[in-house]
Amino acid sequence: MTEILITGAAGFIGSFLAERLVADGHTVVGVDNLFRGKLENVAHLGDTFTFEKLDILEDIPRLEQIFRNGVEVVYHYAAINGTEHFYDKPLDVVRVNSEGTMNLLKLSARHNIKKFIFASSSEVYSDPLYLPTNEQHPFLLGNLSNPRYTYAAGKVISEYYTKWYAEAFGFKYLILRLFNTYGPRMDSSKYGQVIPEFIRKMLLEPEFTIIAPGTQTRSFCYISDLIDFTVLAAMKVDNDVLNLGSEHEITMIELARVLHELAGRPFSYRLLSPRVGDPKRRLPDTSRARAMLGYQPKTDLRSGLKLTLDWYQNRLALPIGMG
Ligand SMILES: NC(=O)c1ccc[n+]([C@@H]2O[C@H](COP(=O)([O-])OP(=O)(O)OC[C@H]3O[C@@H](n4cnc5c(N)ncnc54)[C@H](O)[C@@H]3O)[C@@H](O)[C@H]2O)c1
Repeated sequence: MTEILITGAAGFIGSFLAERLVADGHTVVGVDNLFRGKLENVAHLGDTFTFEKLDILEDIPRLEQIFRNGVEVVYHYAAINGTEHFYDKPLDVVRVNSEGTMNLLKLSARHNIKKFIFASSSEVYSDPLYLPTNEQHPFLLGNLSNPRYTYAAGKVISEYYTKWYAEAFGFKYLILRLFNTYGPRMDSSKYGQVIPEFIRKMLLEPEFTIIAPGTQTRSFCYISDLIDFTVLAAMKVDNDVLNLGSEHEITMIELARVLHELAGRPFSYRLLSPRVGDPKRRLPDTSRARAMLGYQPKTDLRSGLKLTLDWYQNRLALPIGMG
């Protein structure tokens, strides 16, 4: 039984991770400032899970008390995520995604943890030079005046801090570069990610819109596969960097079409203006993770989309095919 701290535990990935680690018999403390996370995501987790609402930038004494109580492994998942936030609050994004990590690393060093696992992102590859993109691809950041890159910049600096703090202070590290992940519990507002946003627009709005050109691609990994990958990687891989995600690439127009088909709705769309700096394609090379972990994603895109659609459908209390 390991004593685990998860930051961002009330968020999408953090809450599924907490659920899994508790089910595996660990004692887990989750922290989150509820900027985007929701208490209901972790309310069901039972006696071996404790939640504290705190901010990783502001509440250092409370965070330190958690370390004093005994933390062996840190899963650092707190971040300001959601592309629209990058444009709206660039300073907060870069601060949480860099200073927040530094705060966690300083406490990890002071309290002799065993391992620090950092949730990085495919955004560190920006608009990649080649596809599928492997871990050797250089960091690419756009120009300083585009707020979009505050998120990637925070992730890049956090990767450097993670590696060099861990080496200097003698704990293990693992950097996971997550590609697009989806499933229930994601934010479906305009500040959310594309799949829940598409579902909300499809179910609730008179007009379906897609950010131009619509031919941009992403590769989507269902949450249960990502959590399987993560738990295996945490057990088996030390002091390394791994891409985690799905190798199924799809355009935004095709994604929207499949969602409409699954919901039994006619499909038409209007293109919105493009976002400056939006990567044209994203496709991970996950061969290292698959070889090292002996794992292949189990949920194909259609099945995962159906599960996700059903969850939102129930939540929004709208029968499939309505409207
Ligand atoms: N979902 C994806 O497709 C994806 C892809 C790449 C990387 N990631 C990374 O995985 C991690 C989890 O992402 P997610 O999709 O679950 O996002 P999320 O927004 O659902 O979870 C992040 C959590 O961090 C919390 N948080 C933000 N600022 C905080 C602060 N100052 N103090 C404490 N908590 C704070 C938020 O309230 C939220 O619950 C993030 O680090 C994200 O960058 C996610």
